[in-house]
Amino acid sequence: MDEQVKLRIKRSIPFLSSSGEELTSRMYEILFEENPELRNMFEGDNSKKLAGALLAVAHNLERLDVLETSFKKIALSHVRAGVKPEHYEKVWKALYKAMVEFGVEDEIIEAWKEVYHLLADNLIKREEKLYACLNQ
Ligand code: HEM
Repeated sequence: MDEQVKLRIKRSIPFLSSSGEELTSRMYEILFEENPELRNMFEGDNSKKLAGALLAVAHNLERLDVLETSFKKIALSHVRAGVKPEHYEKVWKALYKAMVEFGVEDEIIEAWKEVYHLLADNLIKREEKLYACLNQ
């Protein structure tokens, strides 16, 4: 990952610490407005957990391996709920719109776009393996 991307993600830490949960809460509102069929995949409000995950990523950009256990847990949760690769772009679109509404700077949004897709690729690979295990 580019140093500039890392710096921009780190610059977003104060905002994520103070308003991360409001941001992800708005993200889910947009996601469900645009994709009502996704609503019943969720058992409860996931805003706090998603905000926590984004903040943990921002804090650990130099050593994402420390988040291995969290990522395993997220992938398991996703497989249990039936999350599919095509859902990731819908979530990004909603997160992008929420960030724009919250007045996040363009260059910080661009940096998050890169990191989000890195996380998505990582999770999609884990989830593919878990689905393959379940289908054996
Ligand atoms: C990089 C992207 C994503 C991250 C970082 C992320 C993060 C998380 C986290 C931290 C949890 C809670 C895990 C736990 O402790 O059990 C979770 C659960 C979940 N996520 Fe994601 N997620 C992402 C993408 C998605 C996508 C694309 C969907 C599809 C709609 C999705 C749907 C869900 C669902 C349905 C749950 C379970 C919630 C429940 O049981 O109520 N996530 N995710």
